[in-house]
Amino acid sequence: MSHSDEGARSAARRVLYDLVAARRDVRAEFSGEPVGADALHRVLAAGHAAPSVGNTMPWDFVVVRDPARLRAFAEHVAGCRADFAAALPPERAETFRTIRVEGIRESGTGIVVTYDPARGGRHVLGRRTVDDTGLFSAVLAIQNMWLAATAEGLGMGWVSFYEEEFLARFVGAAPPVRPIAWLCLGPVTALQEVPDLVRHGWRERRPLADAVHAEVLGGELEQDPAGR
Ligand SMILES: Cc1cc2nc3c(=O)[nH]c(=O)nc-3n(C[C@H](O)[C@H](O)[C@H](O)COP(=O)(O)O)c2cc1C
Repeated sequence: MSHSDEGARSAARRVLYDLVAARRDVRAEFSGEPVGADALHRVLAAGHAAPSVGNTMPWDFVVVRDPARLRAFAEHVAGCRADFAAALPPERAETFRTIRVEGIRESGTGIVVTYDPARGGRHVLGRRTVDDTGLFSAVLAIQNMWLAATAEGLGMGWVSFYEEEFLARFVGAAPPVRPIAWLCLGPVTALQEVPDLVRHGWRERRPLADAVHAEVLGGELEQDPAGR
């Protein structure tokens, strides 16, 4: 797309912002149909196109589809969920009881994203003073995949109810490589318009105006970027 083509640019803008708004963390809406090979490839390619510190591309993607392995991981996650629930005060535990935190088996496809801090060697351009930039890069790959999945009409759900050591063994990741996410991917019946945690009364979203500051944290903007 040429940047001088105003029509194409405004169409792209609309598509992108619509996708950003439509993207949801999916747990309960997986239809159970398999993900097509072409769509899976495009989603993974979108992840692989992410920006990365020093162009290190420190991620790998492990696609898990064996039903027995999906079941085994789901059982591990159920244990972590129970541990979290047991630590909650009664009122929060009651709210949490109704919330699903994964669709591992229903989605039929898991993508485990791993992060390799050693990729790129000792002199990574841009990581000398902020080591986390490597991890940030791998997370950007996840966000690219999340948006690509939404564009494909697929749902994605990030599962973090696991012990890192368990998932590392599960996918054969040896230190310093770390698994950083289990992503459920699959066709969906629909995407919710409101995030699950909001719908179920767990936590509201924070207004944009509260998140934007002028010059220093707490500094008030003269012109409100939320347009009010
Ligand atoms: C790092 C990370 C970990 C998450 N872990 C889980 C999880 O274990 N289970 C779950 O159901 N959702 C998980 N989520 C999804 C969030 O709950 C969700 O993004 C948030 O409630 C906002 O909803 P939305 O993504 O539909 O806009 C995770 C999201 C992120 C970014």
